[in-house]
Amino acid sequence: MLTWLLVVTSADDTCGSIVQVQLAGCNTDCGRVEVRLDAAGPWLGLVAREWTLENATLACRAVGFDEAASASAAGLPRRAAIERLMVEAECPAMGCRARTILSSSAAAGVSCRSSGQVVADVDRVARWSERAALRRQRVEDEHFTGLFTDEALERAYVFADEFRDAWRQLNVSVRDKLARFRGGHLPKTTALGVDLREDRELATYLFLETNPHAQFAYETDGLPETGPTHDAVADAIFMDLERDGIALIDDFGLATLDDLERQARDAVRGDVNVSVTSSGAVVTARVELPALEPLLQNKTIARALARYLRGGVRLDGYKATELRTDDADAYIAALWHHDRVGRRIKMFVFVHDVDCDDGHPTRVAKGTNALGYYRTDSFASSRFHDAYVRDTFDIALGCGRRGGGFLFDTHTVHRGTPEGGRDRLTVIAEFHHVDKCPAASALRLGLPCPSGDQFPLARDLATL
Ligand SMILES: *[C@@H]1O[C@H](CO)[C@@H](O)[C@H](O)[C@H]1NC(C)=O
Ligand SMILES: *[C@@H]1O[C@H](CO)[C@@H](O)[C@H](O)[C@H]1NC(C)=O
Ligand SMILES: *[C@@H]1O[C@H](CO)[C@@H](O)[C@H](O)[C@H]1NC(C)=O
Ligand SMILES: *[C@@H]1O[C@H](CO)[C@@H](O)[C@H](O)[C@H]1NC(C)=O
Repeated sequence: MLTWLLVVTSADDTCGSIVQVQLAGCNTDCGRVEVRLDAAGPWLGLVAREWTLENATLACRAVGFDEAASASAAGLPRRAAIERLMVEAECPAMGCRARTILSSSAAAGVSCRSSGQVVADVDRVARWSERAALRRQRVEDEHFTGLFTDEALERAYVFADEFRDAWRQLNVSVRDKLARFRGGHLPKTTALGVDLREDRELATYLFLETNPHAQFAYETDGLPETGPTHDAVADAIFMDLERDGIALIDDFGLATLDDLERQARDAVRGDVNVSVTSSGAVVTARVELPALEPLLQNKTIARALARYLRGGVRLDGYKATELRTDDADAYIAALWHHDRVGRRIKMFVFVHDVDCDDGHPTRVAKGTNALGYYRTDSFASSRFHDAYVRDTFDIALGCGRRGGGFLFDTHTVHRGTPEGGRDRLTVIAEFHHVDKCPAASALRLGLPCPSGDQFPLARDLATL
């Protein structure tokens, strides 16, 4: 029946013929085209380099419509590269071999209609259009009015002027998509991004495709959760991280804490691999701290991280950092921001008590780890006004007693706290999913992954 497409999977590079077609991610008459090569097999997203109205019409006919109203190359990435397909329309017959192209192709999307109906029943079309207009109005009223306005931009973004063009582009793209959206539950939005917890795929399609990093973010952070670790402490840390983006640790159980404190103090006072910013307000030392090693080997921490980061974990490095400043303007990390790289964990170890008021606690906007930020490609997209963040989210403070600390996801909106009378010396280690930074650098996204200002380790953690 369906000789209009030939597909090849990347798994074994064999061709197959399509036995079923469905539309996904939108509604019964629109969406991404997905196919099955085997009635019992997985649904595979169709990826096309060229996707015209004629191509889309073939797909619409396969699902029972007469023609396509629009063809979109949505760029909506599918989770597993292995499930991705490349259409090779030039293939002369079933069973031919075709090239597999995995990246930089767009997901083929369609919006279908039945031409017969439109011509035959004018009244019905009129009624339908009326209803569609009403529905569209409702969607805009309930979820959209006020979202991409100049006021919202200026209220939330510190570098609003630099972000204005991207904001307008978003306004147009999202309006356009919502106009075609037929009912269903829309994801929750803020001026910073969209909540990915309910329907990651729909949220990505509607709100995140204008981000040049959309595919990277979707693929690297869209992996399924691996499930309980059977280590109660690790699972509790994971739950805190998943819910809030931060897990406070009362005591890391580090027997070498005295040594660690001494090594960290020597490091920031030394002159090897030390960098000083803001006239001495922040001092960072990138040297080996052998007393940290037992904590880096701690299986409970490794298990919690593996569950949160969805698989293998790489410890990229660590540093000792001392905050001495009380001059907010001098310290750019004092602006609310996210790190633009998606999920990554920083683990802070307190080598002295960190006072919640006066000790420069790191601040984290709870739950913002679940946001898909509209844009992550520019610095201007990632710095936010204090009043907006405090009005919109609950704030957690990274403070507590010596020997404890916290783990947090730098995808959250967070900020350093330069205000405060007491210096704060902490040891900070950084972790990513093993594939993240290699992928970011292969794709030349220009992201700070891993951070440069640390003693580099690039060590994969064992969880067993
Ligand atoms: C779309 O149709 C054109 C013209 O028939 C063809 O050259 C092209 O390969 C088709 N693309 C896909 C993805 O099927
Ligand atoms: C967003 O789009 C609406 C309607 O298309 C327009 O009235 C509004 O000015 C746009 N907002 C911005 C910030 O461009
Ligand atoms: C590992 O870390 C957990 C959580 O911080 C802590 O409770 C435990 O004592 C540590 N285990 C060891 C062996 O250090
Ligand atoms: C200084 O940093 C480099 C890498 O950035 C590292 O190889 C070297 O061991 C560091 N020096 C000390 C004393 O830790």
